[in-house]
Amino acid sequence: MNPATDSWEQLLRTCSDCTACELHKTRTNCVFGTGNKNADLLFVGEAPGEQEDKTGTPFVGRAGQLLDQYLYAVDIPRDSVYIANILKCRPPKNRDPLPAEEDACIDYLRRQVRLIRPKIIVCLGRIAAMRLIKPDFRITKEHGIWFEKGNFLITAVYHPALLLRDPRKKEEMLLDMKQIKEKLDLLSEEFTQ
Ligand code: URA
Repeated sequence: MNPATDSWEQLLRTCSDCTACELHKTRTNCVFGTGNKNADLLFVGEAPGEQEDKTGTPFVGRAGQLLDQYLYAVDIPRDSVYIANILKCRPPKNRDPLPAEEDACIDYLRRQVRLIRPKIIVCLGRIAAMRLIKPDFRITKEHGIWFEKGNFLITAVYHPALLLRDPRKKEEMLLDMKQIKEKLDLLSEEFTQ
C-alpha cells in the first residue's frame, strides 16, 4: 500500500474483510481500533478478548475498564487517544497470538501508525512490547523505559489483564502512566512553542 494514498476507509474495509489467517473463521467482529485519528498517543494491546469480539471495540471488557481508570487517574481523556491491538481478531480462548497471526496482521497496525502519526506509542503488555520494541523485551524489568523509534517514542506498561491477576503491580502501573502523561504534556508544549 502506498502510504500517500492510504485512507482510513480503505484500511477499515480491507481489515474487516481480511482472511489472511485462520482467526477470521471464528471472529464475530474485526476489532480495528478506536479513538482520535489525530492522537499524539497510541495505545497498542495484544488482541481482542470476548467483549471486544462481540462489540468490535478494543478494551471494553474488564481489562479495558481498568485501563479507563488509569487514563482517568492521570487525566488523559480516552477519546483523546487512539487504541488498537497487534491482532484485529480474537484468538480462541484468548490464547497468545501465534507468530504467523502477528505477521499476517501487523501491516494493519503499521498503516494505522502512518495515518495517525502519534508522538508516543504505549505497548500494553509484553506481547505488544516484544513485537514493537524488541523480541527479548522483559516487561517486569523494562516497563516504563523510553525507546526512540523513527518519529515517535515508545514505551511499555503492564497489561491491565495482568494487573487484575496481580494487583501488587498497580502502584508501578500508576507511576508509569503518570510519566507517560508528563511526556505527553512536554511533547505537546514543544510542538506549540
Ligand atoms: N486485551 C487486549 O490486549 N486487547 C483488547 O482489546 C482487550 C483485552
